[in-house]
Amino acid sequence: MSEPHIRKVRPDELEEVWWVHVASSNDLLVRRGRPAMRPADAPVASDARAGLASDPDGYFCAVEEGQIRGMVSALVRARVWYLSMFFVLPGDQGRGLGRALLERALAYGEARGTEIRCTWATLDPRAQARYVMAGMAPRWPIYRLEGDGAAVTRLKARAGLDPRERELPCDPGAAEKLTAEVFGHGRADDLAHWRGDGGAAVAIERGGELAAFAYRRGERIGPAAGRDETALLQAVAAAAVAGAGVGGSVTMRVPGACISLLEALVSCGFRIGDPTLFMASRLFGRPELYLPSGPILY
Ligand SMILES: CC(C)(COP(=O)(O)OP(=O)(O)OC[C@H]1O[C@@H](n2cnc3c(N)ncnc32)[C@H](O)[C@@H]1OP(=O)(O)O)[C@@H](O)C(=O)NCCC(=O)NCCS
Repeated sequence: MSEPHIRKVRPDELEEVWWVHVASSNDLLVRRGRPAMRPADAPVASDARAGLASDPDGYFCAVEEGQIRGMVSALVRARVWYLSMFFVLPGDQGRGLGRALLERALAYGEARGTEIRCTWATLDPRAQARYVMAGMAPRWPIYRLEGDGAAVTRLKARAGLDPRERELPCDPGAAEKLTAEVFGHGRADDLAHWRGDGGAAVAIERGGELAAFAYRRGERIGPAAGRDETALLQAVAAAAVAGAGVGGSVTMRVPGACISLLEALVSCGFRIGDPTLFMASRLFGRPELYLPSGPILY
């Protein structure tokens, strides 16, 4: 067998690389006794396209005998290096491809002068081992939560939503500023991507100031950010009310750091799915005030 060759992903290879991701994550689910999430021919997620567009120098694949067998994608957002995707084909795991891929992704972060490493990890021991060895410690679980119409109605009552606070248009500049406050940097390009990807935003205002916002794409909620936990809950509830009107149920990924949001959602009847894990070399920002968009862009 020839030695693996690690090289950058070209834009025309995005489908092939995405297929490695889908095959590997479906295999992991089946190994854990769960049904596969995505069909094998699932189209490339728009967030993965955005990742290649923003960080073409952090996207690598492992090629062996002419076939792409593994992939990694790292994003740099100011001083934060975020590992976005890391997958090796099921038959090729456990023999060093991941190590070689991650080395290149880490070197990309070093070259860009980042100070913090973090990722959203599966519970796969090989992934966990690689992340711990790269200096990232497990911090808290991230739960997938799903709420049906009844749960959303209870959440709306719990958040004490004023009817005037529903679907207030959210000023992009104010959302960038608030994101910078809770996350440490503005992420203007990511917010623009989510808006362009069919994202609808709701804003909670207090005294003419943005207190919280939440983005929603179809039935998925996130990112959302708030000046405090009450405002964050109100924005998430407002987005859930709008989302449930469209599809009946809504989903979001809630980090364990968002303690009051998590408690409110579960108490209102949102159902907890499989947990994943937030891992970071150190903590930054105000993690209790930020609901991520999803695993690919955080
Ligand atoms: C995670 C993944 C990309 C790693 O790639 P890989 O090629 O399998 O990884 P490697 O062979 O380079 O490294 C695996 C490491 O885990 C270690 N390991 C395996 N099981 C372990 C365990 N139970 N405890 C501790 N270490 C363990 C191995 O010893 C190896 O470390 P070493 O190189 O220092 O010996 C791959 O396994 C994968 O695709 N997994 C399924 C999808 C997934 O969970 N992806 C992560 C998304 S966040």
